[in-house]
Amino acid sequence: MNILLIGSGGREHALAWKLSQSKHTDKLYAVPGNPGIAKFAECVSGVSIEDNDAIVALAKEKNIGLAVVGPEAPLVNGVVDALTAAGIKAFGPTKDAAELEGSKVYAKVVMRRYKIPTARSEVFGDPSRAHVYVRQMRQPFAIKADGLAAGKGVILTKTADEAVEAIDLLMKEKAFGDAGNRVVIEEFMEGEEASVLAFTDGETIVAMPASQDHKRVNDGDEGLNTGGMGAYAPAPVITPELSERVMEEILKPTIEGMKKEGRPYKGCLYAGLMITAKGPKVVEFNARFGDPETQVVLPLLKSDLVEVMLACVDGKLAETEIEWADEAAVSVVMASGGYPGDYEKGKKIEGVDEAEKSGALVFHAGTAEKDGALVTAGGRVLNVVGVAKDIPAAVQKAYAGVEKISFDGAHYRKDIAHRALERLK
Ligand code: AMP
Ligand code: GLY
Repeated sequence: MNILLIGSGGREHALAWKLSQSKHTDKLYAVPGNPGIAKFAECVSGVSIEDNDAIVALAKEKNIGLAVVGPEAPLVNGVVDALTAAGIKAFGPTKDAAELEGSKVYAKVVMRRYKIPTARSEVFGDPSRAHVYVRQMRQPFAIKADGLAAGKGVILTKTADEAVEAIDLLMKEKAFGDAGNRVVIEEFMEGEEASVLAFTDGETIVAMPASQDHKRVNDGDEGLNTGGMGAYAPAPVITPELSERVMEEILKPTIEGMKKEGRPYKGCLYAGLMITAKGPKVVEFNARFGDPETQVVLPLLKSDLVEVMLACVDGKLAETEIEWADEAAVSVVMASGGYPGDYEKGKKIEGVDEAEKSGALVFHAGTAEKDGALVTAGGRVLNVVGVAKDIPAAVQKAYAGVEKISFDGAHYRKDIAHRALERLK
């Protein structure tokens, strides 16, 4: 069948790579795709991923048997509903179910209603009431815009003054527009973070190997927050015992709860977790695959991704065997000079072929083609992934790939997977 992939980042390149290996894939299309994805797919330009009518028209024209949605915005915008209504199978939650990511207030309601462990929190629609609250309560806090803010709507504050400033930035200055009409003010949770992604058809849940992102720009988890500077899987912080608890205490009650809400959840559910002294607690839900987690989780999937996704759409996950390789994957992000601040684009990238020849996988996150050459086109440019028998070997393979690649101003973290390596000592 023909497959349509929506999105253009490193996550979508990893999806395209895996989808293209399926025996069910005749032709892969991507909107808008990127130069890396173009190796496996026909990239379609001129169609906005937030225009549901245009996506449905494209899917009909290309005789699409399965559409796969990468980013959150089209999900929250109801693209799965629109495709389904037009008789086209689409992997991902409906608009109502995607509210688990689209509204942090709604996610908190679900967690409270179904007793899913998470940080204590209060919701405010009025900044002056929020000010009173943060002045009364014990610091520190995580202050979150309710709506989508491209991963930037969370501010961690240590003092009441900082908290007031954060509330004003979100609610008065509207740094993220209407996303800040309401804020969630949460107690700060101590612990190590991990991501658990799961396939679900609304009934059956299959967790993928746990992974860990690296949000800060510098080694040792210092410096500014980024979209993610690298990841690895499996993350040993999620022991088999914790994995069982995540399934029983978080994933199952969430999927059961969404059914009771009348918003059955299908697709990939991403649980961002804090492993606290009391056990795993939810930091956030995402309604999609994680970026950069996908780039290390999908290389470990042995099964046919199209079969798994169709099983999710058709409610047949219980009958589907999903196999994972007994290996590890590590991804190092190569970023533009200056990122996550201002950076220049259009720098010539060299060495991608050599990196691939050295055994690494290279997923494009922010690249473009200019006069036949590959150039930088975003803050995060490439994900260089090593897959090997264990984390240390995968780290070596990823960095061997990184060393082959160069562009003006390139920077990357040298300590990806450090927490895993420390645990393995
Ligand atoms: P989110 O977009 O909700 O994942 O938040 C972004 C980041 O802020 C998370 O990955 C955590 O590192 C941090 N964070 C969010 N909420 C909390 C919390 N309640 N306690 C501690 N850290 C948090
Ligand atoms: N890795 C964080 C996210 O995908 O939201």
